[in-house]
Amino acid sequence: MYSLNRLLITVALTATVLLPVTSSAKDSAPLGIGTPATNAEIAGWDIDVRPDGKGLPKGQGSVAIGEGLYEAQCASCHGLFGEGEGRWPPLAGGENSLTEDRPEKTVGSYWPYTSTLWDYINRAMPFPAPQSLKPDEVYAITAYVLYLNDLVEDDFVLTQTNLASIKMPNEENFYIDNRPDTDNKRCMKNCKDPSKIIVVESLRGITPDQEEDASEEAEAESLSESAIAGKATYTTSCLVCHDSGVTGAPVLSDKDTWKKRLEQGIDTVVQHAITGFVGDNGVMPPKGGNLSLTDQQVKDAVQYIIEAE
Ligand code: HEC
Ligand code: HEC
Repeated sequence: MYSLNRLLITVALTATVLLPVTSSAKDSAPLGIGTPATNAEIAGWDIDVRPDGKGLPKGQGSVAIGEGLYEAQCASCHGLFGEGEGRWPPLAGGENSLTEDRPEKTVGSYWPYTSTLWDYINRAMPFPAPQSLKPDEVYAITAYVLYLNDLVEDDFVLTQTNLASIKMPNEENFYIDNRPDTDNKRCMKNCKDPSKIIVVESLRGITPDQEEDASEEAEAESLSESAIAGKATYTTSCLVCHDSGVTGAPVLSDKDTWKKRLEQGIDTVVQHAITGFVGDNGVMPPKGGNLSLTDQQVKDAVQYIIEAE
């Protein structure tokens, strides 16, 4: 807090030098410039909608009404059936194409949540006149785009209460990115040599498997079944911290450390990996931050950590 205050004072001093400050604005905290935003001004910006439906205004709209609105205001660019006119983006189709060489990313094939569609149309469309649609019109057009993607029937009515219940086919493929970010701890003494810190990242399904050579086969032979099963989980969800020791994580290859940790009993160690814990070195997030893992997968990954060389 102390350093934050000092920063603000420094900024304020700089601001008085650099900016012509009018006498009426001088009094308003903290920099002496501008006026506080009114509730009406904030409401104008506060239009985001969340996957659980939070932020949606009251309203409803049917596929049938949406069809007419869509044809009048959207079809000229996005095509009568959402196929996209010319080089304007398509809004439908592309099912199961994401793993192909040329994935076709559309609302139906790619987007994670229905709320994203409602929010996008409400916020940005139609392209020439964004935010000109009334809530009921956004509901109706959203319903129609869902219909174009075979996600609802032609008699469907979209409302603020049922929107969150419509699941998009690709939702499951979005997952929590557990790469460390702001939870890094500031080091003031006995810090690691920066030249020895390696940051390793991997993205599921994109990063090629590392070190695919003979040593891999030799390793596989010496591992238990559980450890072999846990290796993939380790690579996608644990390696980012435990290979390099970033954020204070015990390093995979540092067998003495693991031996010491195992003195508390394997069950406790596994439990710590599942529920997360704060130790002397840092924070081990629950399941490494990837909450979609099952307890068994985490257990196998711990087994891999223990056995791997
Ligand atoms: C004048 C042409 C035009 C019209 C009319 C138009 N759009 Fe768009 N739309 C665009 C363009 C261009 C983009 C891409 C914008 C970008 O990527 O920044 C887009 C993007 C979108 C997207 C996101 C597509 C994606 O996969 O990223 C949606 C959804 C969408 N429009 C819906 C609508 C709806 C619904 C209407 C009618 C209310 C509409 N648009 C009217 C041009 C148009
Ligand atoms: C964001 C970084 C991070 C990720 C990702 C991560 N860990 Fe950890 N882990 C830590 C840190 C830091 C500690 C040490 C905490 C301490 O002792 O202060 C730790 C400690 C552990 C321990 C020791 C528990 C004990 O009781 O001593 C195990 C086991 C473990 N992690 C397993 C895993 C597994 C399995 C995964 C993947 C599913 C994983 N970790 C992913 C940071 C991470």
